Amino acid sequence: MTKFTVNDRPVQYRMDSQTPLLWALRDASNLTGTKYGCGTGDCGACTVDVDGQAIRACQVTIAAIEGRFVTTIEGLSPDRSHPLQQAWAAQNVPQCGYCQSGMIMTASVLLKRNSNPTDAEIEAAMTNICRCGTYPRIREAIRQAGR
Ligand code: FES
Repeated sequence: MTKFTVNDRPVQYRMDSQTPLLWALRDASNLTGTKYGCGTGDCGACTVDVDGQAIRACQVTIAAIEGRFVTTIEGLSPDRSHPLQQAWAAQNVPQCGYCQSGMIMTASVLLKRNSNPTDAEIEAAMTNICRCGTYPRIREAIRQAGR
């Protein structure tokens, strides 16, 4: 049995310890805001916060998360009042929306470390892929949330 904390709640998964975190979150905890895009660690749609780091949940097993603290998009702010969520809405960031929870989770880790990032710092941190090309609005929303 693998135990860790998800969105401030203790969880125990009775599944193969080599199961990717992504599938434990989605299939066992029904936290479907964390998306499957590529499964190879490239797109970032599955990004969650693990102890303050942006982690691609398709690339880490639940065994590697034992005892750690995971935050998903559902746990970022129960009432969607996180400054990034407000900025995302104000800037009308999403197009299809599929990648956006991973984008917001990556941005939230960035802003925890650096509340007013430069454009270069945003570029360096935001390695997630958006097929709709919403990058300019993502950057503006991060700037807005950081102000
Ligand atoms: Fe994990 Fe693409 S699904 S990085």
